[in-house]
Amino acid sequence: MEENQVQEVVSLPRIGDPAPEFTAVTTQGEINFPKDYEGKWVILFSHPADFTPVCTSEFMTFASMQDQFKEANCDLVGLSVDGLYSHIAWLRTIKEKIEYKGMKDVEVTFPLIEDITMNVAKKYGMIQPNEDTTKAVRAVFFIDPKGIVRSMIYYPLSLGRNFDELYRALIAMQTADEFGVATPADWRPGDDVIIGPAGSCGTAKDRMEDSEIDCKDWFFCTKKLDKDLVLDKVLKK
Ligand code: BEZ
Repeated sequence: MEENQVQEVVSLPRIGDPAPEFTAVTTQGEINFPKDYEGKWVILFSHPADFTPVCTSEFMTFASMQDQFKEANCDLVGLSVDGLYSHIAWLRTIKEKIEYKGMKDVEVTFPLIEDITMNVAKKYGMIQPNEDTTKAVRAVFFIDPKGIVRSMIYYPLSLGRNFDELYRALIAMQTADEFGVATPADWRPGDDVIIGPAGSCGTAKDRMEDSEIDCKDWFFCTKKLDKDLVLDKVLKK
């Protein structure tokens, strides 16, 4: 950095923080965030620009999975620093002209925020100047039904997101909340779950003797969690 340059301080919500509030114009009307989503999970995600190929592939994929996310009580909200008319034109083009990996005639019905002022993007640390000063990076914020930031994932401009992973992360967090457990690497419903580390010698001993808990050592204990029970509770099926 040059001597006289002033570096802007960018804020970034942290896991456990209340989601920063804003009102915004979107392709589905005005939203008041996160208030309008109380009682639901919401994924707020940014993309660099309308009418770009990676973003187009992402929007088609996310829109095709929207019902799956809805079943898990999760709404989607997109954002870029483009204007409303650009958003509308791009979404119409996607529906009318673009075919990708068997997806076609895809209608994006979740709100896409116009953020020309970068007001929202800056609140959520979506502008990362050393990557690009005029475009948002690919940020993903998971916000829970109480409006708390529970996870965030950032990708650079060149890297399209893995939407199966976003869905897996959502279900894993919901499962952790519902059953008071943690989920190990690559967990999917039906896999064993992790019991949090024992906080006392007594608990550690009890766990080692509990026939429903499988302890490899006092600190590494798992238990079975039936896939149907997870799906029943989390997806209310
Ligand atoms: C894209 O979505 O294709 C893209 C957007 C900005 C930079 C690079 C790629």
